Amino acid sequence: MKSNTKTEALKESNHHDSVLFRESIEGLNIKSDGIYIDATLGRGGHTKGILDNLGKSGKVIAFDQDIDAINYAKLNLTDSRLSLIHSNFSMLENEIIKLNLHGRIDGILMDLGISSPQIDNAERGFSFNKDGALDMRMDQTQKLTAAQWLKESSETEIANALYQYGDEKRSRIIASNIKKYQQNNDITSTLELANLIAKVVKPGKNKHPATRTFQAIRIVVNDELIKLSQVLEQTIGILSGNGRLAVITFHSLEDRIVKQFIHKYSRHKAVPRGLPIPNNQQEKLILKDLSKIKPSSEELHTNRRSRSAILRLVEKC
Ligand SMILES: C[S@@+](CC[C@H](N)C(=O)[O-])C[C@H]1O[C@@H](n2cnc3c(N)ncnc32)[C@H](O)[C@@H]1O
Repeated sequence: MKSNTKTEALKESNHHDSVLFRESIEGLNIKSDGIYIDATLGRGGHTKGILDNLGKSGKVIAFDQDIDAINYAKLNLTDSRLSLIHSNFSMLENEIIKLNLHGRIDGILMDLGISSPQIDNAERGFSFNKDGALDMRMDQTQKLTAAQWLKESSETEIANALYQYGDEKRSRIIASNIKKYQQNNDITSTLELANLIAKVVKPGKNKHPATRTFQAIRIVVNDELIKLSQVLEQTIGILSGNGRLAVITFHSLEDRIVKQFIHKYSRHKAVPRGLPIPNNQQEKLILKDLSKIKPSSEELHTNRRSRSAILRLVEKC
């Protein structure tokens, strides 16, 4: 490979188109000297968007559990206003207390799920299109991999997870196939698993037969839904008065958790921006539900990843 082609390929493998970029940055209502958290740094698109809207004394603290994301930002996003923390966002409150910033954060952004570089890098084991070790860990220091989970789980546990987290109607037959195969072989690669699934699941419209199973296993291996519930509860104490929370979800399980969290802390349905909240209801309100935003038709056209995205915006009262 010529060196400029190599550089292009490297750039491409690190590229991530930030979803709902303008809407989420505008939604944070960034104050020039504010302190913001990007809980899901990825390739830093949203982090850079926040930095670009801050003045000299503003700050961004960015988290990612994937060391590749942190290392990429160290090299490509050098900015004295940016601090990088390699951690699961379920530890957000602890980290913010350590920094003496509890209750002082002006906005938190979460852009959930995995980044394009994580999917594109076959070695990470997230892709059913590329052969790689069946890994799927976002945090490479974690012990449990997808291969291990499949080996250690019973047929019922696998079937239940595929049904619950992947909405996979063929969950039982897939689980049974996996266990039969495992009588003679461990499943160690992504294509090995994808091929096993393809034997018993027909491809959907524009959907690979393994899409739902891979989503379900990824959610289990990274304990994604529990971590999301944990961090959402922590945001209440972390945010300052009028601090904003912007969460971008990519499937209904995530969105339901965010929706229920907002419902729990806001007594009102969507409050149009600028409208006063009636006096007799004010003290019970912890969060003000601002809006639910979907990608524009232009974004849907140019960024496939945005297809199922929903941005929810709330403000702490
Ligand atoms: C969709 S990408 C974020 C992309 C980013 N907004 C951008 O514009 O480049 C999600 C990132 O969040 C990270 N992530 C997901 N769940 C996490 C968690 N519980 N704790 C910390 N990081 C997490 C993933 O490793 C991934 O890098």
